[in-house]
Amino acid sequence: MTDRINIELATWSEDHFDLLRGLNAPEMTEHLGGPETDAQVAERHERYLRIAGIGTGRMFAVVLLPGRELVGSVGYWDRTWHGEPVYEMGWGILPAYQGRGLATAAVSRAVAHARTEGARRAIHAYPGADNPASNAVCRKLGFTPTGEIEFEYPPGNMMRCNDWRLEI
Ligand SMILES: CC(C)(COP(=O)(O)OP(=O)(O)OC[C@H]1O[C@@H](n2cnc3c(N)ncnc32)[C@H](O)[C@@H]1OP(=O)(O)O)[C@@H](O)C(=O)NCCC(=O)NCCS
Repeated sequence: MTDRINIELATWSEDHFDLLRGLNAPEMTEHLGGPETDAQVAERHERYLRIAGIGTGRMFAVVLLPGRELVGSVGYWDRTWHGEPVYEMGWGILPAYQGRGLATAAVSRAVAHARTEGARRAIHAYPGADNPASNAVCRKLGFTPTGEIEFEYPPGNMMRCNDWRLEI
C-alpha cells in the first residue's frame, strides 16, 4: 500500500528549518510534552544537520511528490537499550497532511535506509501509550510490541510509552 504513496526522503538541510518550526506546533507535540522554545528548535535543527556527518544516525525531511511540499520529518539515531546498541526512530507529519498514509510510507522508507547501514540489529520506537496514530504506524510496519515503559521526556515530565521493536 505504502509503495503507491509518492514521497521522497531528503537529507536534513538548511531548507528544512521552517518545516521543523511547523512540526513544533501545539497539536504536533501534545504527546511529546508540548512545544519547544525557539532556542530548543534551533538546537534541534543544528543536531539534525550534524547527525549524518557524525555517523550516529540520519534525519530526513519527508517530501511529497510531485509538488515537493515539505510535509514531515523522520529519522533514526543510536541508542543503547537494555545493554544492546539499537536505533531509535521518531517521526511527525504536519496536520494538513495527516490521515493519508504518509507517516507509514515515510517510516517504511527510513527503516529500509537504516537496514542499509548494517550497523544495528533492531530499531525501537516509543510512541506515547495515548498516541493511537503513531502506535498504528508501528503495528502496520511489523514492529513487535514488547511492553509499556515510563520515560522522562522532556525532563520533569513522565510519559507512558509503548516499546516497539523491529528486527532489521
Ligand atoms: C503520528 C503521525 C505521524 C501519523 O501521521 P499520518 O500520516 O496521519 O499517519 P498515517 O496516515 O500513515 O496513518 C497511520 C495509521 O494510523 C491510524 N490512525 C490515525 N489516527 C488514529 C486514531 N486517532 N486512532 C487510531 N488509529 C489512528 C490510521 O488509520 C492509519 O492506519 P490505517 O492505514 O490502517 O487506517 C501524526 O499523527 C503526527 O505527526 N502526530 C504528531 C507527532 C507524533 O506524535 N509523532 C510520533 C512520535 S513517536
